[in-house]
Amino acid sequence: MTKRQRDSAGQSAPVEAWDAIAAQYDEHVAPGESELATAGLRLAGLKPGDSFLDVAAGTGGLSLPAARSGAKVLATDWSPKMIDRFNARVISEGLDAEGRVMDCHALDIPDDSFDITGSQFGVMLVPDQAKALREMVRVTKPGGRVLIIAYGDPAEFEALHFFVRAAQAVVPELEGPPDDEPLLEFQLADPDVLRQRLIAAGLSDVVVHTNHRERITVSTGRRLWDWTLGGNPIAGQLLGDLTDRQRADIVDVLDEMIRDSSAGDGPLVLTAPLNIGIGTK
Ligand SMILES: C[S@@+](CC[C@H](N)C(=O)[O-])C[C@H]1O[C@@H](n2cnc3c(N)ncnc32)[C@H](O)[C@@H]1O
Repeated sequence: MTKRQRDSAGQSAPVEAWDAIAAQYDEHVAPGESELATAGLRLAGLKPGDSFLDVAAGTGGLSLPAARSGAKVLATDWSPKMIDRFNARVISEGLDAEGRVMDCHALDIPDDSFDITGSQFGVMLVPDQAKALREMVRVTKPGGRVLIIAYGDPAEFEALHFFVRAAQAVVPELEGPPDDEPLLEFQLADPDVLRQRLIAAGLSDVVVHTNHRERITVSTGRRLWDWTLGGNPIAGQLLGDLTDRQRADIVDVLDEMIRDSSAGDGPLVLTAPLNIGIGTK
């Protein structure tokens, strides 16, 4: 991505950009999140029969494990295409859950409604995070809990650096993510910032767990390409206007890097640090 493209792309992807990647997100990203989501839900104390609200839920990376564990789930996201995919899964699995289109900055939900309200890789990246967190607290019952799962230090986000290295091997002038102005995706990378924002939103007994990592298992360049491009519109913006040839070459370079890094010995596991914050209303 050139400087000019970055300025015009801005920091925050519009809803249409999330709609455009909903199918890839559902196929290549959300299924790999279920172990992490289950760990977060357990830390938040979710029990069968609890009411659970998922905010910026995507296609259900957090909501589906919650519903499968016996919670009554409302999944909300501003992207109609993400919610369509979630609702289709709910019907096919016969779960006690519903998806509704909603912007997390203004939830169309009465005060004090849910036992637990969560957001995984969602409220982490929105522009007015303070407002979104206050909304999560507002709709949670007194004594209920709010759960936030967010990326930690971007310097340790292995898949991102792997991908950028491959892309720059093919297109040397391509810029990586900006160092001077961190992406919104990493606004909770510092666990102290997450703690302070949860307290500022009105929560008490706030705990931030820093000992969990996201794990992505890749055995081919295509798999890492699909995971990266399907996970966030920012990846497509970073690549800019590459030709099909350049894109295919990046996949080939990723293949080589994966083979080299795993010494041809099975799949490669790339990890990223996480901050899991929980507070009580
Ligand atoms: C990286 S995905 C995470 C999805 C899901 N929580 C998961 O863990 O798989 C980010 C999600 O945030 C949603 N999102 C972004 N801005 C939003 C907003 N203002 N209101 C509601 N959802 C939003 C996007 O549509 C997308 O589904």
